[in-house]
Amino acid sequence: PHLSGLVVAIDGTSGSGKSSTSRGAADRLGLRYLDTGAMFRAMTWWLLDQGVDVHDPAAVAARCAEPQIVSGTDPLAPTITVDGTDVGVAIRSDAVNAAVSPVSAVPEVRARLLDLQRAVIAAETAEGGIVVEGRDIGSVVAPDAPVKLYLSADPGARAARRAAEQGGADVAATRESLLARDQIDSGRATAPLVMADGAVHIDTTAYTLDEVIGQVVALVEDAEART
Ligand code: DC
Repeated sequence: PHLSGLVVAIDGTSGSGKSSTSRGAADRLGLRYLDTGAMFRAMTWWLLDQGVDVHDPAAVAARCAEPQIVSGTDPLAPTITVDGTDVGVAIRSDAVNAAVSPVSAVPEVRARLLDLQRAVIAAETAEGGIVVEGRDIGSVVAPDAPVKLYLSADPGARAARRAAEQGGADVAATRESLLARDQIDSGRATAPLVMADGAVHIDTTAYTLDEVIGQVVALVEDAEART
């Protein structure tokens, strides 16, 4: 039995192991899962598909209310659609990787997706609970979450993991792309990547995925035991 309305907020940099950790912990705890990065990627994919200049914040703001973005919350098989089209693969392209940080810095985009994120969280917490991963979950999206994690890892380890996920991409190039995104994500004015108040910091560099999942599960069980 979970705390009713349990939200586990997991923030961190690209390639820190956030997604695998969040999905694994949600699965072990019997919780749903929301990948907010996938929502920003889906918005970016749609803007590129529409030929919108993603480096023009006014153009992005003018169109960002249009796409219908729907997230499936099964931790073992998360899905994302835009206007009914499955974009689960398309949102991981190099083009989306390169454009997603500037799109995510546009306040109108963040406001639109914040509404969608809160709607998913409200629906899922009515039933049980949800693990939500992103950059601003503990600070902005769900500041009252009883469990907040901040995951980091050293850049070499992150690049090696991400390149392996991408089927053997170049590690040096992957490292540059991760660091460039971190810098934009941490430096933007609206909802930058920060360690939220009350977040537990886990540096995942030296741990296996199973070990990190175990730490998250233990923290959630601890929080539940205290209430
Ligand atoms: O987690 P990810 O790498 O799939 O996220 C892609 C981008 O989306 C990331 O570079 C910044 C943005 N993002 C964000 O601004 N806020 C979130 N809550 C999640 C992701």
